[in-house]
Amino acid sequence: MKRLMITGGAGFIGSNFARHLLQRYPDLFVLVYDKLTYAGNLDNLRDLGDAFAGRYEFVRGDICTAAAVEETIRTYQLDTVVNFAAETHVDRSIMDPDSFIRTDVYGTYVLLEASRKLAVERFHQISTDEVYGDVPVGASRETDPVAPRSPYAASKAGADLMVQAYHVTYGLPVTITRGTNNIGPYQYPEKVVPLFVTNAMDDEPLPLYGDGLQVRDYQYVLDHCEAVDLVLRQGTPGRIYNVGTGTEMRNLDMTHLILELLGKPSTLIRRVPDREGHDRRYSVDVSQIRALGWEPEHSCAQAIELTVRWYVDNEWWWRKIKTGEYKEYYCQQYGWRLAQGSAT
Ligand code: NAD
Ligand code: DAU
Repeated sequence: MKRLMITGGAGFIGSNFARHLLQRYPDLFVLVYDKLTYAGNLDNLRDLGDAFAGRYEFVRGDICTAAAVEETIRTYQLDTVVNFAAETHVDRSIMDPDSFIRTDVYGTYVLLEASRKLAVERFHQISTDEVYGDVPVGASRETDPVAPRSPYAASKAGADLMVQAYHVTYGLPVTITRGTNNIGPYQYPEKVVPLFVTNAMDDEPLPLYGDGLQVRDYQYVLDHCEAVDLVLRQGTPGRIYNVGTGTEMRNLDMTHLILELLGKPSTLIRRVPDREGHDRRYSVDVSQIRALGWEPEHSCAQAIELTVRWYVDNEWWWRKIKTGEYKEYYCQQYGWRLAQGSAT
């Protein structure tokens, strides 16, 4: 692993991962390949060009365009592909699944095919705990069948199956990580934690879906990046690795913690109509990644605290996002919900 392609590297986790690798490995070359959808943002990478001149490049491109993908891998002589590129927001997948199927399923196939043709040494797929579906009790193991319930989760599960098929059929050296909810710097403020933090900072209502008793494992993004790095170096080709803290938090408790950290009143919480098909709980068994020697450095609560601090300190980053397209999306998603919502 010397010359990496990070697809979707202008997004939240991919940009943190690119920075992590460049800082840690002085001999590594990193190429970020990203379409720059609404979620892609060059501000996420703006420090990298000067800090890592000669070791970092950005190419704007779509993972669904085979010719551009192949040309980029060839031109930059890339030996490893790490695929973060995806449509990632469950609520948007419910409104309009089309781009999810295109990018998450077909785009992954295009990357696999290019990796096979050009004999890439490792293809790593960034997947999600959502492919296991709702987990009322216990914890999902990597060998469990996938049972996705939203168009987003179904598209990610489809991609995982194709990645595994390329390993079995063509012997492509692949690995997959299935991460739980990441939080931290540069997360687009449509996801619940940055949405609630930035709304609370502006004394706007926090739209909590349903009873707020859904459970998630909120992990700090840099812990997830460490895990992906470890799997790239020490993971067994053909294997899947769950990545999470292995603990859980209810959305209601996460919301109160954010308000407490910001010194804001709980009257900002609005209970609004639930997400359709809302998975109440995800939980992953993390013994495999732990056996590789990985431990998360942050608990869910610490991850939330660090995230709140980053958004407080970086208004320059998120204020300009919460305009234009974001406002349109916000009205469509929350206009009627907030109108029907109630205080807790
Ligand atoms: P994000 O939405 O912040 O970023 C996605 C990036 O992909 C953006 O930069 C976007 O421009 C790019 N992109 C979208 N379509 C593309 C295309 N067709 N071609 C090239 N680039 C394209 O996403 P994220 O939260 O950073 O998630 C990254 C990956 O991690 C995704 O695969 C997601 O499914 C997975 N994941 C996310 C989480 C989480 O909590 N955020 C947890 C587990 C797994
Ligand atoms: O579990 C990993 C997944 O985590 C990733 O694969 C996805 O890309 C990522 O978006 C995230 O999915 P979730 O649906 O869990 O994240 P989201 O931030 O959208 O919602 C987290 C929880 O908060 C969920 O139970 C729904 C709830 N929620 C969300 C929003 C946006 C609310 O109560 N109100 C909201 O406005």
